[in-house]
Amino acid sequence: MSRRPGDPRADVASMLRVDQAGEYGATRIYAGQLAVLGKGSPTAHLIARMASQEERHLKRFDALMAERQVRPTLLQPLWNVAGFALGAATALISDKAAMACTDAVETEIDRHYAEQLAELGDSDPELAADIADFRAEELEHRDTARAAGAAEAIAYPLLTATIRAGCRLAIGLSKRI
Ligand SMILES: [Fe+2]
Ligand SMILES: [Fe+2]
Repeated sequence: MSRRPGDPRADVASMLRVDQAGEYGATRIYAGQLAVLGKGSPTAHLIARMASQEERHLKRFDALMAERQVRPTLLQPLWNVAGFALGAATALISDKAAMACTDAVETEIDRHYAEQLAELGDSDPELAADIADFRAEELEHRDTARAAGAAEAIAYPLLTATIRAGCRLAIGLSKRI
């Protein structure tokens, strides 16, 4: 990493690619969870609200990518299936496991967006403003999940550590591929 914060060479195409992939993955996770959970449950209600915010994040990155002619990750079909499967699997374990999934994912996304904001510095205020806006909502999602008892999920430490490792891998791959 030879780039410094605010360096105009910050690789914005790679940033948009990974961010769009992440927001897309988030919509797929929530789609998987909502497919399993009954529509009327309190957990489904929380998830539907977060999912609509992820849709907004995704649409914004889609628009920025189109404007700036950045191609999406080639791994999109994989995130389609893996995201949905992760969502469905965690919801099948329990409502609290579904919340633990959000807790884990948003913890990594927060870290990822914080790193990007540091890397962007003042070089791209338009993108930085969106990332800061979305980051605040991701933190709300994490806190919503924690307030809903994420930590009471069975095998919470293992579950969240595994999901967090998966997120870091997905982030690393989507930057490059
Ligand atoms: Fe998001
Ligand atoms: Fe989120």
